[in-house]
Amino acid sequence: MNHRITLIPGDGIGPEITKSAIKILNAAGVKIEWEVVEAGLTALEKYRDPLPQEVLDSISRTKVVLKGPLTTPIGKGFRSVNVALRKEFELYVNQRPAKTFKGIKSLYFDHIDLIIFRENLEEFYSGIEHYIDSSRSAAETIGIVTRRGSERIIRYAFEHAKKHKRKKLTLVHKANILKYTGGLFLDIGEEIAKEYPEIKFDDKIIDNMAMQMVMNPYQFDCIVTTNLFGDILSDLASGLVGGLGMAPGANIGDSAAIFEAVHGSAPDIAGQNIANPSALILAAVMMLDYLGEFDAAIKIERALSKTIAEQIHVTRDINKENYVSTSEFTDAVCRALE
Ligand code: NAI
Ligand code: MG
Repeated sequence: MNHRITLIPGDGIGPEITKSAIKILNAAGVKIEWEVVEAGLTALEKYRDPLPQEVLDSISRTKVVLKGPLTTPIGKGFRSVNVALRKEFELYVNQRPAKTFKGIKSLYFDHIDLIIFRENLEEFYSGIEHYIDSSRSAAETIGIVTRRGSERIIRYAFEHAKKHKRKKLTLVHKANILKYTGGLFLDIGEEIAKEYPEIKFDDKIIDNMAMQMVMNPYQFDCIVTTNLFGDILSDLASGLVGGLGMAPGANIGDSAAIFEAVHGSAPDIAGQNIANPSALILAAVMMLDYLGEFDAAIKIERALSKTIAEQIHVTRDINKENYVSTSEFTDAVCRALE
């Protein structure tokens, strides 16, 4: 089948790593027609708008996006295009797998395979914040957790676990202190769990969870949690498998999905053909799964694993002594596909 997909190359290392992912998708024989659009800094410079209408129109048409990282100015300038896109298309799931790859240095663990499902729109990321008076003597933020928002992320996590034959789902919360917001999320989890007797369900309080994940991550399989805890735990999980270089992420809603690397635009190494494209390639693998292109997804993931395990053609962040460029690494993955 021919897929029509929106491509946002992004800035910094974005254009280099998206080029790599596209080359590998082509080599795997996946038929994709790309609608290439600009967002973020590149769009601001060209069209004076970090999120042009053209981008929104393209996503509304294709409903699937492969996206390079976008630089977000800190404390000033335009607000995060990433957050705006999540809101615009109601991408309520942030799915972040953390998996060990042979050849990637990890401190203590050698066969981790976790998936974190983070609620992506509610709670402390709604941006409802203010100072309570003009002297800034106190500030307040409002975190709203809704039944609808909780139900759909928890159900998504259960459905994914069921479909992919995963064994267990752990719900992470702080319901002992946040009795209403955390309590509602936990109660809904317990209700929905009854519909999935084949999946083992338990819950953990966030602080204990952070300790348990570092001491014995093997006890976990799938994890579902609210926005802020999910943000932090998913970075912790990527640390368990050797950092951001191999961490993909998907933002998924009922009518659209955006696949991207977890890392940012890496301005310090942009334009040098040395970035590791693996995280974006793995995001493309998640996209293929989403599109039902399972064979191509498995093929690409295997070729990537093999190339990294061999340690002959890898980027500098993977092997400081013996490394090749982004394009040579890409070519090695393409050869491994055959
Ligand atoms: P970063 O992830 O861009 O870089 C952190 C460090 O990791 C840097 O030393 C960088 O060289 C290295 N690195 C990252 N990706 C790499 C790769 N593929 N290969 C080799 N090395 C890699 O984080 P930073 O510097 O905090 O953010 C830079 C910009 O990216 C900021 O404007 C930030 O807002 C944006 N950002 C965008 C994201 C997105 O579009 N989804 C996500 C995270 C950050
Ligand atoms: Mg984060």
